[in-house]
Amino acid sequence: MAPSKSLFILFLWARSLLLPLPLLAQSQSIIPVASLLPPDSPNAGATLFEYERLQLTEELVQRVREQEKTAKYGSFFAFGDLDSPKAMLKNGSCKLFPGDKSWPKEDLWDAFDNLLGGALIPTTPIAAPCYKNWGLYDSEKCAAVIANWTNPYLHTLILVNPYTNEADPTSVAFQIFQGRTCLPTSNLNGTCTLGGYPAYAVNISNVAQIQLAVNFARNANIRLVIKNTGHCYLGKSGGAGALSVWTHSLKDIELIDDYKVGEYEGKALKLGAGVTVREVYLAAHRHGVTALGGICDTVGYAGGYIAGGGHTLLSGIYGMAADQVMALEAVTADGKKITASQMSHPDLCWALRGGGGSTFAIVTSIIIRVHPKLPVTLSSFSFNSTLVGKEAFWLGVRAYFELFIPFTDAGTYSYFWIYNTNGTYSMDMKPFWALNHTIASFNDLVQPWFQKLSHLGIPFTPATKSYPEFWPAFDEAWPPGSGAVGGWTTRPGNRLFPRANWEDPVKFNQTFSAIQESSKSGYRLGGYHQTPRNRAHVSNAVNTAWRTAISFLILGINVAGDATPAEMGAASAELEDALEPWRRIAPNGEGGGSYLNEADIGEPDWQSAFYGENYPRLRELKDKWDLEGVF
Ligand SMILES: Cc1cc2nc3c(=O)[nH]c(=O)nc-3n(C[C@H](O)[C@H](O)[C@H](O)COP(=O)(O)OP(=O)(O)OC[C@H]3O[C@@H](n4cnc5c(N)ncnc54)[C@H](O)[C@@H]3O)c2cc1C
Ligand SMILES: *[C@@H]1O[C@H](CO)[C@@H](O)[C@H](O)[C@H]1NC(C)=O
Ligand SMILES: *[C@@H]1O[C@H](CO)[C@@H](O)[C@H](O)[C@H]1NC(C)=O
Ligand SMILES: *[C@@H]1O[C@H](CO)[C@@H](O)[C@H](O)[C@H]1NC(C)=O
Ligand SMILES: *[C@@H]1O[C@H](CO)[C@@H](O)[C@H](O)[C@H]1NC(C)=O
Ligand SMILES: *[C@@H]1O[C@H](CO)[C@@H](O)[C@H](O)[C@H]1NC(C)=O
Ligand SMILES: *[C@@H]1O[C@H](CO)[C@@H](O)[C@H](O)[C@H]1NC(C)=O
Ligand SMILES: *[C@@H]1O[C@H](CO)[C@@H](O)[C@H](O)[C@H]1NC(C)=O
Ligand SMILES: *[C@@H]1O[C@H](CO)[C@@H](O)[C@H](O)[C@H]1NC(C)=O
Repeated sequence: MAPSKSLFILFLWARSLLLPLPLLAQSQSIIPVASLLPPDSPNAGATLFEYERLQLTEELVQRVREQEKTAKYGSFFAFGDLDSPKAMLKNGSCKLFPGDKSWPKEDLWDAFDNLLGGALIPTTPIAAPCYKNWGLYDSEKCAAVIANWTNPYLHTLILVNPYTNEADPTSVAFQIFQGRTCLPTSNLNGTCTLGGYPAYAVNISNVAQIQLAVNFARNANIRLVIKNTGHCYLGKSGGAGALSVWTHSLKDIELIDDYKVGEYEGKALKLGAGVTVREVYLAAHRHGVTALGGICDTVGYAGGYIAGGGHTLLSGIYGMAADQVMALEAVTADGKKITASQMSHPDLCWALRGGGGSTFAIVTSIIIRVHPKLPVTLSSFSFNSTLVGKEAFWLGVRAYFELFIPFTDAGTYSYFWIYNTNGTYSMDMKPFWALNHTIASFNDLVQPWFQKLSHLGIPFTPATKSYPEFWPAFDEAWPPGSGAVGGWTTRPGNRLFPRANWEDPVKFNQTFSAIQESSKSGYRLGGYHQTPRNRAHVSNAVNTAWRTAISFLILGINVAGDATPAEMGAASAELEDALEPWRRIAPNGEGGGSYLNEADIGEPDWQSAFYGENYPRLRELKDKWDLEGVF
């Protein structure tokens, strides 16, 4: 967006001449407001990243209040007080929306931008060059956006955005909850509007900017959202009329050789908020260790993934990814930078590990324990009903499900899909992931299943390969950008199924029937066998249903690409109904639940489904740490 971007910079430059803000040094004209604080973070057992040392202090806020040119804006940047929130907000009043009488005027946004050092970006939807009404129509750029739309890198990470040639501040991977108001299209008659995109994003490069944004949003009564990569299926990394804190650029990674906190003594990785799963895996590999992560390499690590708990390819041996987090640095709703660990704010440390993204604080970095390298055996294959018929197909699937107990006892994990294409069924195992297994021990383990498939006459050809360690196995199974995103015609929901349903033969039959019926009804099923027990014996807010689960299953329904609000409502109702048999056989409170990071937004009784036994305490902590509802 060369024209509008350079205009923007010019504008800033012009303002800086009009409104110099000599807050730190006398010599510069645009000066980001930040103090360089000492590096120590004793309660985290580590040192701060450079970008975390740049903080907003009471003294700086005071200077903003005192400077003649900024005095009238000063109150917008003041720190809050968690114990005495503003009564009007406590009373449930709404946040301001662009166009409202009290919505900040341009001069206030300019002052904010100046304090940020020019990091404020008014939102331009990523597909704007496809629309004449937006004023930036460009057929070539539009074609590139269309061509790259399902590539996660377009929305998230790397400098391939063909529009700005930079990572995009506000694009999200799934547009349904954005409102589909600016989809990529070659129809020139369309209109592009902001819809659920935020009004502005702050391109964060230091903690002071996060503090300024939190204080500004809170004092101006504006909705605040956080975007890391924008992978959230539920649209939580966007928000209409919001100010977005965009953490993508916080890429620092550091190995701590001898990390000692509590009972842990060993290697650890300190990770910036913008680091992705792939970057964590690669860093761990280079440092001779293994880190826990999920299957999508473009997901952000220290943001929504850890906040949601983070299920992982290594869960059979080490548990959830959030279980590995030892300490976090974060900015809380009052704008203060705190350390959350066993030694300081242990309640917040508990909540930030599993209690859900964008709820308690903005995490700026985390420290995770890491593990030795282990060998892995992978096996990928698929089979279908074309030659053998539906009955044999389902007996073959059933033979797999029947073995979830021995498979998970052996520490393995799987990722599979079951499709119903006009009554023809197929199952893709991609892959069966056997950590710390050789090909021989893998073959022994799966022999009862494979034998059954052969007896049923089901043709299948497992491609089984072993690797000396995690990284090359992952890299081959999921090469860069392998997970397609960008769709607006599906809606996911999910359920965590407890091992108890597998231990009782009657329940197992009912469970398997419910799952089979969903596929027969035409729904797409995806899933995993895995057991992320609390293997590290930590206390955190991970949904207690994960601890007893043996399987995590996703159900996807289709929605028309141009669904009307009424049709969208009907789809929500359909999704809720489709999941009902799963809820009935794996109820909340009896080991069942739903993973909040990949959930149906309409999940009934969500308190118990998403948080299990942890909900009451999380509710209390939300009131303690964010009574005003900043997040
Ligand atoms: C293709 C795909 C595969 C996936 N595979 C897995 C998997 O294997 N295992 C698994 O557990 N999950 C998986 N997920 C789900 C994933 O963990 C969630 O979508 C997660 O929320 C993404 O986090 P993010 O920070 O990258 O995304 P974002 O959409 O940017 O953020 C997600 C949420 O976290 C909040 N947030 C982001 N950064 C911060 C921060 N610094 N502080 C506080 N809040 C923050 C956001 O506001 C938002 O609410 C997958 C998702 C996709 C799309
Ligand atoms: C809260 O809202 C109610 C109803 O709108 C109003 O009567 C009351 O005065 C408000 N209280 C405060 C403290 O603002
Ligand atoms: C993006 O689209 C352009 C063509 O429009 C193509 O040349 C380029 O390879 C695409 N990039 C990616 C990463 O898909
Ligand atoms: C765009 O609008 C024109 C004039 O109303 C109409 O003739 C044309 O068919 C429309 N094109 C598309 C792709 O909808
Ligand atoms: C965001 O800031 C980083 C520096 O931290 C810079 O490299 C990048 O170009 C900026 N991105 C945008 C879209 O302004
Ligand atoms: C079904 O399986 C057979 C045998 O493996 C294979 O040849 C065929 O391509 C598969 N069909 C589909 C639609 O996957
Ligand atoms: C499935 O059936 C529908 C309607 O009969 C048809 O349009 C579609 O092409 C079929 N799909 C496949 C993959 O056979
Ligand atoms: C991996 O397997 C070996 C051999 O079976 C076993 O000794 C070791 O304890 C296992 N490692 C872990 C971390 O489970
Ligand atoms: C479970 O279902 C299988 C297959 O339909 C059947 O053979 C078995 O008897 C059932 N078990 C119980 C306990 O109902």
